[in-house]
Amino acid sequence: MKEYNNLLFTVEDGIGVLTINRPKSLNALNSETLAEIGSALSEIKTNKDVKVLIITGSGQKAFVAGADISQMAAMNPIEAAELSELAHNAFQTIESLPQMTIAAVNGYCLGGGFELANSCDIRIAASTAKFGQPEVGLGIVPGFGGTQRLTRLVGRGKAKEIITTGAQITATEAKEIGAVEEVVELDQLMTKVNEIASKIIKNGPVAVRMAKYVIDKGADLELNTAISFETQMWAQTFATEDQKEGMAAFLEKRHAKFSGK
Ligand code: CAA
Repeated sequence: MKEYNNLLFTVEDGIGVLTINRPKSLNALNSETLAEIGSALSEIKTNKDVKVLIITGSGQKAFVAGADISQMAAMNPIEAAELSELAHNAFQTIESLPQMTIAAVNGYCLGGGFELANSCDIRIAASTAKFGQPEVGLGIVPGFGGTQRLTRLVGRGKAKEIITTGAQITATEAKEIGAVEEVVELDQLMTKVNEIASKIIKNGPVAVRMAKYVIDKGADLELNTAISFETQMWAQTFATEDQKEGMAAFLEKRHAKFSGK
């Protein structure tokens, strides 16, 4: 992995951890950080050592407190569109990664931070985390996908309430509306996300990758088309070594040794 000014990256036992590292600005996303995230993800995409990717923020206070307001304050519409494009490029790359991604939300998760978390496959939050889309209070609308991904996650009414009030919600409230999957104590956060990542890694790699793909692609299709798409993908898994091994292992009462082929 290249050296980045605003990111840290580690890999251990198949689990990659990408940390947004601008703690003095509560990990706010400026254009350099967004470009670095895009570039790091392109490296991670083809890194066979990374089977699951965790995204988190540096320090104990913030996951990401949004786009960098000090950079945005003087922007004109063209510069704003360029910043939004950098974010869309990075966040769409997260969604298209073959690996499962988990946001470990360790604190403030606001604006562009909430939008980043919502690009991940799974969100686990510390009980101290706070979520919100405060953009309207700055005189703008969410511009890194918030009006779209949050709406798909929690429905139009809740998304409109969160976005137009700009109010912060707690991790527990975020869980109640389906914006996060689990809430744990801050000191248990990385243990919990590592536990989930390890469970994912134990399963057939092709099947995990395909499950993510079918869920995401199917969500944009009408139900009958989505179901037949699932049938095609399901049938294809019978052409894999992982399917032969997984079922043989069950019948032979042993643990499967998946090759990912
Ligand atoms: N951009 C730039 N700097 C930020 C920042 C941001 N989004 N959030 C925090 N910081 C900086 C603060 O300016 C401060 O810097 P200094 O020490 O140099 O003054 C430092 O981080 C610590 O922040 P605070 O002193 O404000 O800490 P606090 O505990 O009093 O408050 C907070 C924490 C409630 C998160 C508060 O910092 C805050 O409201 N931040 C802004 C949140 C926000 O509005 N996010 C949305 C941005 S817009 C966006 O994301 C657009 C989009 O659609 C993508």
